Amino acid sequence: MHLPWSLKAGACMKNPDNHAQAAPAGGVKSADPCSAIIFGASGDLTKRKLIPSLYNLAVANYLSKDFALVGFARPPMTHQEFRDKLDKEVKLYAGRSVDQTIWAWFLDRIYYQAGEFSDPAAYQALKTLLIEVEERHKTQGNRLYYLATLPSFFGTVVEQLGVAGLVEEGGQTWRRVIIEKPFGHDLDSARALNRDISKVLAERQIYRIDHYLGKETVQNLMALRFGNGIFEPIWNRRYIDHVEITVAEELGVEQRGPYYEEAGALRDMVPNHILQLIAVTAMEPPISFDADAVRDEKHKVLKAITPMTPQEVLQRAVRGQYGEGMVADTLVSSYRKEDRVAPTSSVETYVALKLFVDNWRWAKVPFYLRTGKRLPKRMTEIVIQFHRPPLLLFKQSGVEQLDPNVLVIRIQPNEGVTLTFGAKIPGPKMELGSVNMDFNYSDNFGIQTSTGYETLLYDCMIGDATPFQRADMLEAGWAVVQPILDVWKALPPRDFPNYSAGTCGPKDADTLVERDGKHWRNLD
Ligand code: BG6
Repeated sequence: MHLPWSLKAGACMKNPDNHAQAAPAGGVKSADPCSAIIFGASGDLTKRKLIPSLYNLAVANYLSKDFALVGFARPPMTHQEFRDKLDKEVKLYAGRSVDQTIWAWFLDRIYYQAGEFSDPAAYQALKTLLIEVEERHKTQGNRLYYLATLPSFFGTVVEQLGVAGLVEEGGQTWRRVIIEKPFGHDLDSARALNRDISKVLAERQIYRIDHYLGKETVQNLMALRFGNGIFEPIWNRRYIDHVEITVAEELGVEQRGPYYEEAGALRDMVPNHILQLIAVTAMEPPISFDADAVRDEKHKVLKAITPMTPQEVLQRAVRGQYGEGMVADTLVSSYRKEDRVAPTSSVETYVALKLFVDNWRWAKVPFYLRTGKRLPKRMTEIVIQFHRPPLLLFKQSGVEQLDPNVLVIRIQPNEGVTLTFGAKIPGPKMELGSVNMDFNYSDNFGIQTSTGYETLLYDCMIGDATPFQRADMLEAGWAVVQPILDVWKALPPRDFPNYSAGTCGPKDADTLVERDGKHWRNLD
């Protein structure tokens, strides 16, 4: 089961020497002793997310005191140079003031190995270093390999780890590999990658990460649905009119032009993050929180999403690309003028889809989803809209329309849940207004400092694969988007750019929902 993530005051490791004795908040045990080996240690993910998350785990005493970290990347660096680099970066990315005592403890167990990802000699050098480090820090031979490299190296690194004998387990010793996204480029390449890595690793050793599953509110969705008596009985097509999922970003592609030119919004966000949000929203209650019990139910949802025919793709899939526009009072350039993006690029930065989960719970309930860059604001939410109540009773009192109940699950920012319902406006007449019942995470549980990766790293260190993707889930996700990729490849867009930066996306996305008599929730 996941970490009850609480990095609040009081959960702090004040004295690193007491690290083993101090119990983490909430009675959760510290992770197993282990070394974490990060491939791609000179890159962005390492400095922005992985090091701050591991540091946060240390602060909250969730990291074992018998821990070490080895960075592996191409640039030549000594251990000390790598430590100095992280020392500068942590201040920028930790999101909190850095406790010098804990950070010094952490830095002291960091090492570096330079090498090419395809060079067997580099893995032999890594092996020698690991033996030394494991001896010094008593990590008991447990290893967490984190593949934070370019996706094209995932297969190579796993293969080389196998050749060097670095992933063999024995007795109580575990060897686990976290693989970043994107896992494959389409259905065929995802299958091929699964096939290749399964030659070296058992499925239980593979942790395919999707950082959305580390987000507190996504995890809370299971608590909301299955830990309360009032939601589950009405969580179906009899009561729910439609589900709307929005993952909106204010940012553009920033420095990631080359990656994004290969990926586009559909590959970047849908087969992973958004389908995981649908899976958690639509799954049946699992029989336990065991990794496979939960993942079996999510897999069933993904398999129940009917892949679109080419004709349906034309009707139910919308793509867009941003042009120049105003974001937060600043004029920003079009996608085609971003760094290292082709001036005639036909890559989409916006996607809207209408999907169906064709099972007894959800048949005929549309799942509308949209995601895009350079939208008016950053906002991720899941909206459950219930059927509109019949009007007859109120019509006689002059009420012209009854608003449906809406349950909004805010993933970010302002994490929380809001239920909207109708209430009588005080006065002699029967008039109804919409009012909200609101739960805000920060009001109830305080502000939490977390990157979303902490809980995932911790889960991997204790061997809980629940929030990680299994091979079959991943392939089921790609099977949903493959028909869209095929049609879009065959028919390049003719109207790009078709929305201005800072606006809510292309007109066709509005038409997609308006055809069904609905409208998107306001993004402005
Ligand atoms: C990443 C995508 O997986 O998720 C990015 O590659 C996107 O393009 C990011 O910006 C969004 O994550 P978050 O946590 O900021 O919603």
